[in-house]
Amino acid sequence: MLSNHNLGLDLMRATEAAALAAARWAGRGQKESGDGAAVGAMREVLSHVRIDGTIVIGEGEKDEAPMLANGEKVGTGDGPAMDIAVDPVDGTRLLAWGMRNSIALLAGAEGGSMYNPKECFYMRKLAVGADAADVIDLEAPIGDTIRKVAKAKGKPVDQITVGVLNRDRHQQLIADVREAGAATRLFTDGDVAAAVMAAHPDMPRLDLMAGIGGSPEGVVTACAMKALGGRILARLAPTSDEERQRTLDAGHDLDRILDTDDLVTSDNTLFVATGITPGDLVEGVSFLPDGGARTHSIVMRSASGTIRYVDAYHHLDKVEEYQRRHEVAGIDWK
Ligand code: FBP
Repeated sequence: MLSNHNLGLDLMRATEAAALAAARWAGRGQKESGDGAAVGAMREVLSHVRIDGTIVIGEGEKDEAPMLANGEKVGTGDGPAMDIAVDPVDGTRLLAWGMRNSIALLAGAEGGSMYNPKECFYMRKLAVGADAADVIDLEAPIGDTIRKVAKAKGKPVDQITVGVLNRDRHQQLIADVREAGAATRLFTDGDVAAAVMAAHPDMPRLDLMAGIGGSPEGVVTACAMKALGGRILARLAPTSDEERQRTLDAGHDLDRILDTDDLVTSDNTLFVATGITPGDLVEGVSFLPDGGARTHSIVMRSASGTIRYVDAYHHLDKVEEYQRRHEVAGIDWK
């Protein structure tokens, strides 16, 4: 069991560090550098958190990006056993292009409780909040789902908005959503933030998140859904023959619908995100005239259902420490 102490606040320091290290890379067109800085800073802070942590979901394999590797031990080793899923930059492209909504993410759950679909990079997903959790069905046509969600939320279909990653593979889905009378909100990257916004009781502008996105992000989303009382349904969705074969060889069932509880069996989950660039879920890092910086984070804990927003000021020395240590040659930060 995780203790009653809210480790989410300790883990938030790792997403703050990742965001502080990555934010200077915003708009510099270098995906790997921003990601590398975030990974380094996150790893460093995680090593001081009192957990016996194991990285179950380490981001990066899909893009061969720098990662906190699967199986890597994190934390001081003398606290509770925890599975950790990290995505030091969700939206590496958004960061590199200087666009909104790149965030540093981390989720935690009791040791041994996270699903690990490492052979398959993609999943088809459907995520909603508590008010519509019982009515979704991954196999039903999206129009039927939209009508049921609208009914559960007590609003007309034309007031339903579905978040969809703007990809060619979603052309039919987008057409079907519009055909049903609902609106789409297309986003360039970042389906975890979209799912959290769809499920968040205080963010009424998005009702559903649907479509194919990263598998690691699916597990992170499940940890968030547990804290929000929402639900994610998913099915592995390999996008190439090679990925499909590898997934089958590893014994995965491609027809199986994975519910929130399959993605993370523990009811004791933590979800933490810090904005890197300005965003809809959380604001991004602002660098201040005195050399310090402000970060904005969201910390959620399923055991209590608490959702905290943390607005933090970081002293110049700390900001420089994270950035210098994870500096990549070629940028003069001054
Ligand atoms: P990264 O920036 O961490 O690579 O992920 C961004 C992202 O948009 C995820 O939020 C999403 O799940 C996935 O990529 C979708 O994959 P693809 O860009 O290959 O469609």
